Amino acid sequence: MIVLGIESTAHTFAISIVDGEKKKVLSNVIDGFTTVSGGMIPSKVADHHVDVYDRVLSDALLKANIKLSDVELISFSQGPGMGHCLKIGAFAAKTLSLKLKKPLIGVNHCIAHLEIGRMLTDVNDPVLLYASGANTQIIAYEGGKYRVFGETLDNGIGNFVDSLAREMGLGFPGGPKIYELSLKSKNYIELPYTVKGMDVSFGGLLTNLKNKLKQGYKKEDLAYSVQETVYAMLVEVAERAMAHTGKTELLLGGGVACNKRLIEMANIMCKERGAKCYSLPNEFNVDNAAMIAWLGYVQYKSGMKTKISEAYIKPYERTDEVRVTWR
Ligand code: ATP
Ligand code: FE2
Repeated sequence: MIVLGIESTAHTFAISIVDGEKKKVLSNVIDGFTTVSGGMIPSKVADHHVDVYDRVLSDALLKANIKLSDVELISFSQGPGMGHCLKIGAFAAKTLSLKLKKPLIGVNHCIAHLEIGRMLTDVNDPVLLYASGANTQIIAYEGGKYRVFGETLDNGIGNFVDSLAREMGLGFPGGPKIYELSLKSKNYIELPYTVKGMDVSFGGLLTNLKNKLKQGYKKEDLAYSVQETVYAMLVEVAERAMAHTGKTELLLGGGVACNKRLIEMANIMCKERGAKCYSLPNEFNVDNAAMIAWLGYVQYKSGMKTKISEAYIKPYERTDEVRVTWR
């Protein structure tokens, strides 16, 4: 079954074509909104998505070497995310479904990050450390649902790193820039380490870092220290979730999971407890539509479908609200 997936929860607009039976990604086209300075204004990001839609669609079809009429199922990210952005994807998906007279399915973005790992690797029942711009969650399947075992109490880790990079004048996205800078130092400066039970928090740390920047601390020392601190916080809560659930696989997902130091720390933790750590190629860590197409396929095969009249967006959808029919 040829599935067309559409992702538009935040700054990324993406379309992918996946062959469900063959578990094959035929194309995975990603177009991210970027700024040289400043952050994201939701309406501007939505304008970006509208602007790039036709090009991303024709690129995805061309790379997959198929015609639009070959598509058999349309899948879109229904939530959670920014309302302005979600609407563009939902509208496009609805229109394609009506035009092609093919079924439509809306999926949960966070669960898609986990399911794409199960498609691309031999991971079976992992704890997902989902570390992206807006989201920082520890997710695992337990008692018939995907549940959030821990999460950030304030900013997502990516947004936190991006804010720090902005303070340092490094531009957006900040994650890779802070990483490059961190390689220039080995000087650890003590920073607040905030793990509360299973949750993490970055707000106080950002204030602390802003003050340190004003006091003239070296940017590379802070970049190094902040990575050591925040990635240790994430690995600590991921480990606790593994201990609690008894699961022996860790999957990394989200844009921040591109970070080599985080991958290294997660691998050390897993090795020490006899578990296995999985990470994906970068194009499947960042927001992408292959994961949306794939989860759409899996859900559709399990008998789910979204009626046109129910293809509304779910900006605040919680992971554990999703009815899991495919496991
Ligand atoms: P969400 O998935 O929550 O909607 P998003 O659209 O911001 O959020 P992603 O595309 O998954 O999500 O991730 C973008 C984030 O990843 C940015 O904050 C960026 O700084 C961060 N990032 C990308 N590469 C790296 C890296 N090498 N190290 C750390 N962070 C990184
Ligand atoms: Fe994401």
